[in-house]
Amino acid sequence: GRVVVVYGGDSAEREVSLISGSAVLASLQRSGVDVHGYDLAIGGLAGLEALQPDRIFIALHGRGGEDGALQGALELLRIPYTGSGVLASALGMDKLRTKQVWQALGLPTPESMILGAEADWSGVCESLGLPLIVKPVHEGSTLGISIVDSRESLEAAYRQAAQYDALVMAERFIEGAEYTVSLLGDRVLPAIRVEVPNGFYDYEAKYLSSETLYHLPCGLTSIEENELGALCRHAFAAIGGHGWGRVDVMRDAEGQFWLLEVNTIPGMTDHSLVPQSAAYAGLDFDALVLAILDTSLE
Ligand code: DAL
Ligand code: MG
Repeated sequence: GRVVVVYGGDSAEREVSLISGSAVLASLQRSGVDVHGYDLAIGGLAGLEALQPDRIFIALHGRGGEDGALQGALELLRIPYTGSGVLASALGMDKLRTKQVWQALGLPTPESMILGAEADWSGVCESLGLPLIVKPVHEGSTLGISIVDSRESLEAAYRQAAQYDALVMAERFIEGAEYTVSLLGDRVLPAIRVEVPNGFYDYEAKYLSSETLYHLPCGLTSIEENELGALCRHAFAAIGGHGWGRVDVMRDAEGQFWLLEVNTIPGMTDHSLVPQSAAYAGLDFDALVLAILDTSLE
């Protein structure tokens, strides 16, 4: 049947999605699939339906595409799609509620709180400590995120995050190494350690910089990596994730892992993490894309 790759859209991550989606589209063409690309921002849902897809590969990032809205529409249209369903997509896009689910299950995630415009911000610094992280609750690709190392810079960080989202959160900063674990069907792919010389893994480091280091193998012992993989699988299952996804984690100086967030539609650009991890596990990009397509629910 006909596959349509949906990409673009109008979220803040539109540019990333155009790159992910083009890569997926070109890959399916190489594999001989009857495939069309569709920019959701241009024709909307009606235009998508008019293409009469038998199956949809969702390569959208951010709100409107990764957050359950499109997934719900496709359920109503009875068109199978890749990735998580409505609930997991909506939860995954909400960093705060994701953490609340993890906390309820006893999974480790750094303490956080809503940073309201009216909040007692001095209390925030006292309970989370400094430095701390300020981020929009519903955003991807590190957009709007800052590290705050003094009380005075909290307000600027709040304003920056508030440009992306009405809801802003502050989170305890974990000093240590950053890891990411990709999940594909029942498989836990090899963990990657991400290292950004002189900085943190922000939008620039993710997509533009050639200095970001991706350590693969990640340098953990196999026992530690298995522990990390099991934690990430559990974290993904906890929100009801399906098909494929990526969990981002910090490891502190004592070796304790801390869950940061889930990405239910991870980036598929040539800088992106899931393709690197899959390649290391022996799945090239085309095999990865076909494997993701295979996980779509009927
Ligand atoms: N939100 C970006 C695309 C990622 O998770 O890779
Ligand atoms: Mg994310």
